[in-house]
Amino acid sequence: MKVSDRLPIHPEPYWRDTIELPEFDALENDESADVVIVGGGITGITAAYLLSKEGKEVVLLEANNLLNGTTGHTTAKITAQHGLIYDEFIQHLGKTKARLYYESQSEALEFIKQTINEKQLKSDLQTEHAILYATTKEYAVKLEKEYEAYKALHIDGELVDDIPFPIDVHNALSMKNQAQFHPLHYLKHLIQEVLDNGGRIYEKTTAVNVENSDATVVTRNDKRVTCNNVLVCSHFPFYEGMGFYSTRMHADRSYAIAAKTNTTYPGGMYLSVDQPSRSLRSATMNGEEIVIVGGESHKTGQGKDTLEHYKALQDYTEDLFENPDILYRWSAQDLITLDKLPYIGEITSTQPNVLIATGFRKWGMTNGTAAALLMRDIVMGNDNPYKRLYTPSRFYADPSLKNFLMENADVASHLIKGKLETPSTSIKNISHDEAALFKTNGQRKGAYKDNEGNVFVVDTTCTHMGCEVEWNHGDRTWDCPCHGSRFSYKGEVIEGPAEKPLQQHDHTILENITSENSGY
Ligand code: FES
Repeated sequence: MKVSDRLPIHPEPYWRDTIELPEFDALENDESADVVIVGGGITGITAAYLLSKEGKEVVLLEANNLLNGTTGHTTAKITAQHGLIYDEFIQHLGKTKARLYYESQSEALEFIKQTINEKQLKSDLQTEHAILYATTKEYAVKLEKEYEAYKALHIDGELVDDIPFPIDVHNALSMKNQAQFHPLHYLKHLIQEVLDNGGRIYEKTTAVNVENSDATVVTRNDKRVTCNNVLVCSHFPFYEGMGFYSTRMHADRSYAIAAKTNTTYPGGMYLSVDQPSRSLRSATMNGEEIVIVGGESHKTGQGKDTLEHYKALQDYTEDLFENPDILYRWSAQDLITLDKLPYIGEITSTQPNVLIATGFRKWGMTNGTAAALLMRDIVMGNDNPYKRLYTPSRFYADPSLKNFLMENADVASHLIKGKLETPSTSIKNISHDEAALFKTNGQRKGAYKDNEGNVFVVDTTCTHMGCEVEWNHGDRTWDCPCHGSRFSYKGEVIEGPAEKPLQQHDHTILENITSENSGY
């Protein structure tokens, strides 16, 4: 399948194309620090900012480049309205915990707003209402229940009949005075403050292990940073200890496009509650208004050709806005825990000096900030009202147990499926810019042919825990459905938890193989 004429050929997020970020060397020597933070997204950078401000000596390690993971691929809504969640939290966790969740997210929103306002940071911050809308009767009923939850939790919201778009909605629920911004402008300022406070930052430095006794972070090139506390902020944890995080989360992928249009945006940040998911917000690019349209969420490595998802967003944008000129497209990966609350806190009770923050369920702007605030308090020995809510060692029997079994059954099916299927085709028959699967000597291989006709062959067994990766044609990547690792078409790691590349092969190993399966 080819990229549509109206979609940009290469995926690139609007945020990263509109800012220059500082670059940092890789770690080449052993070092020591008070705190080592692994992961250069909103969580790691905010934590580095907060702790360096407290006088802690901080080292931040990033496997690739800062802000090139989920934070660089967000839609950047800063809100405590996280889809249909408060009614569910009241049912499963009780009113007190549901209210605590709302408070922690609202505090994170306030922290970002205050930091920007106090320091007068450039960030395109705008206060907006967040609005959920339902296009089916079934979800309109759910939205009514969500509104009841808002009232029970004293959340400032309103249930209305319509939204200012040509969409046939049954009802809509607003949460007042939330916000949107350009997250990389904001975080670029925090990076500078980390440096001003004496923090050290290293890019292209992959942490691979924590040595137990003395909290030493070990990197892939066998450098060591000894410290008192390790903060695992690497999206999927690079180190799990005995926390079994691989079995307690799944990865979802969603898509976004940014477009200039002739329609004036009516204000507000919108999210559909029924499927397929749709998200809307505006932004300002070089003084001109653009729209950011997101959605099409699905489990990573599963479902249809990923380009179809971009095309669905393109169609939706063309339905809503006059003459859209699509400037950017990108996709993001998010991790979802068993009970939909993030895991923030001690990685296990036996390693209290290693803290983890993960499972933000697509709401990383507030969850990442809330995580950084909580980790700061744990490291500094301060009380924090959300410590018990987010502790990774929690176990809420309902609905966790059922989900736990389902998540594992799902992972198991991918571990087995890849070993049994026998897809293959002739290498000559793959078109330019397409990929196909092969079987040779009982092993599954993936091959991608670029526009010049070069063929790149990889073993499709994920180097994390052995699931089989699937081709993502929208982004030209091999994606793992189990825990969300992503690899380039050459097999290089783009996103963990996998640390090692897919095994690469010369294309000649497939040359004599011909059989029935078609390319992707
Ligand atoms: Fe865990 Fe692939 S990401 S097996």
